[in-house]
Amino acid sequence: MTSAPELPTTYAPTAEFAAAANAGPELAERARADRLAFWAEQAERLHWDRKWTDVLDWSNAPVARWFTDGRLNVAYNCVDRHVREGRGDKVAIHFVGEPGDTRDLTYADLLAEISRAAHHFQSLGLVPGDRVAVYMPMIPEAIITMLACARLGLTHSVVFAGFSPAALRSRVDDAEARLVVTTDGQFRRGTPAGLKPAVDEALSAPGHTVENVLVVRRTGQDTPMTAGRDHWWHDTVERQPAEHTPESFDSEHPLFILYTSGTTGKPKGILHTSGGYLTQAAYTHHHVFDHKAGQDVYWCTADIGWVTGHTYIVYGPLANGATQVVYEGTPNSPDEHRHFDIIDRYGVSIYYTAPTLIRTFMKWGRQIPDAHDLSSLRVLGSVGEPINPEAWRWYREVIGHGDTPIVDTWWQTETGAIMISPLPGVTAAKPGAAQTPLPGISAQVVDEEGNPVVLGETEANGYLVLDQPWPSMLRGIWGDMERYQTTYWDRYAKQGWYFAGDGARLDPDGDLWVLGRVDDVMNVSGHRISTAEVESALVGHTGVAEAAVVGASDDTTGQGIVAFVILTATTENTGDTLVNELKAEVSREISPIARPREIHVVPELPKTRSGKIMRRLLRDVAEGRELGDTSTLVDPAVFTAIAEAKGD
Ligand code: WT7
Repeated sequence: MTSAPELPTTYAPTAEFAAAANAGPELAERARADRLAFWAEQAERLHWDRKWTDVLDWSNAPVARWFTDGRLNVAYNCVDRHVREGRGDKVAIHFVGEPGDTRDLTYADLLAEISRAAHHFQSLGLVPGDRVAVYMPMIPEAIITMLACARLGLTHSVVFAGFSPAALRSRVDDAEARLVVTTDGQFRRGTPAGLKPAVDEALSAPGHTVENVLVVRRTGQDTPMTAGRDHWWHDTVERQPAEHTPESFDSEHPLFILYTSGTTGKPKGILHTSGGYLTQAAYTHHHVFDHKAGQDVYWCTADIGWVTGHTYIVYGPLANGATQVVYEGTPNSPDEHRHFDIIDRYGVSIYYTAPTLIRTFMKWGRQIPDAHDLSSLRVLGSVGEPINPEAWRWYREVIGHGDTPIVDTWWQTETGAIMISPLPGVTAAKPGAAQTPLPGISAQVVDEEGNPVVLGETEANGYLVLDQPWPSMLRGIWGDMERYQTTYWDRYAKQGWYFAGDGARLDPDGDLWVLGRVDDVMNVSGHRISTAEVESALVGHTGVAEAAVVGASDDTTGQGIVAFVILTATTENTGDTLVNELKAEVSREISPIARPREIHVVPELPKTRSGKIMRRLLRDVAEGRELGDTSTLVDPAVFTAIAEAKGD
């Protein structure tokens, strides 16, 4: 009998990799010796028009001020600086369009385009502090728009172009945006689909603050324009001068708002500012990915609609003068070879993606990556959800030719940049674990009362907290500072710690494993979706009286959305017809990413005596488990009825 070869539990960097790596063990030592001096050193990566007086002012906690009184221009740091230092001819972006069109933009090209857009935005009367909504697919103009905003001190709010008109409208209203930048359409698996019509629909009801809509031509579709409000990019931006003088802004000047799901139906506008954010974006991109300007070709597969796209496509890489691939489409368009073809063609050396895609690649089979030369890859990254060890090993073995370090990066929209991750030249990586807070970052795993979980023979589970402020931390929730306090700071108010909303465990080596959300937030393909949001979309349908939504584990997407609905008395249960209609309703109301995997029509929902829906029990049902403790339920018999309705 042969036994399976034992898999290594850790994967140490090779001596060769470690010797050449940006980060060595001394990085953590320096941070430990003097944390604030360490961050000041990191801030020196940037160009400051005026140096800060204090590294950190935490006197107004939980609203931090980093690099106080310092002044800088974020766009200057991401673009002008490289041109001035003689790197204008270097490619910043290798753009690959979904239909196969390509376009290379050097840093000098990028500077000219951003300057033109900045002139145009100024001509529209926008002034520092105004908000601009960006609703665009992954094309260079989206990045140009974000950087033109940064250049002028305008605060951008990027709304994922897969979101519905209703979702766009609520974000535009919350931020009181004066300008929306969009495209005529976007490509979806080779087919153009309209996008501007969604903006028109979003703005159709009066009462919004939008004065102008700027439209980039991408798909060439017929696009009705509203006179006086709408303008084409090619008629306006492209006629502006290519030189623009940047001014400097306070280190705490608002850079962007990005909406993310919370535990209620209303998304939170996470606010990020300038100096601290850019410092940590650049620092983490440099060390976690071991990025070497002039050598590496970097590719982060995220969309700019998410924070990963903000920090690891726009701000971090560009601040570091990276050459990167920006790809517009999906991984299976025109076929499953797309990503590997791009890696091969551009010699991508650093590749950063989500576990859900890795699991999809696994399903497609290794013959697809094996058909390509992936030898250029030298660092692989993972983000968005815990990566299961099997997917981790496959990623290293098949994509990373068995010798490429993997960085499993934990962070959140709120943290702005990577917080917990192996360092590729330092850490002996452990499949499935984010392992170690980065140098300069401090995290703990604690119980309800805030006692650190005890490292022992067995694994210790608890809640993940960040017990020291960090430069790229959120500065609040736009328009709702009370919610900022209650969501993140009330839980450990006594200690003054940030509550991340994730469960975590420390293994006997002291390595940290992030287990997932402990609140009513689901993680579907690395996207955060609140149960409340989906429930409210469902009850928005006239036939639904009540809805309860849970995230059930899913082999590919991490979690899948499972909904239980009670119909109104007058609604007939037409089976699949109704269920499909309800699924479509959720797609329409929120986005196709929020479309439930399953919807079960049930006669009743399990509730506690105080009327709270017992989601834990519904999750048991959704995952086909034995029921947990039902003693607090009003009527345990409700499960028999649910099981019957579910067809178990
Ligand atoms: C939530 C944040 C940060 C960019 C993408 C998501 C989960 C994220 C990991 C990881 C385990 C992870 C957490 C976190 N998460 N990365 N490496 N291991 N879980 O940003 O939408 O703000 O979601 O994603 O649950 O709280 P986000």
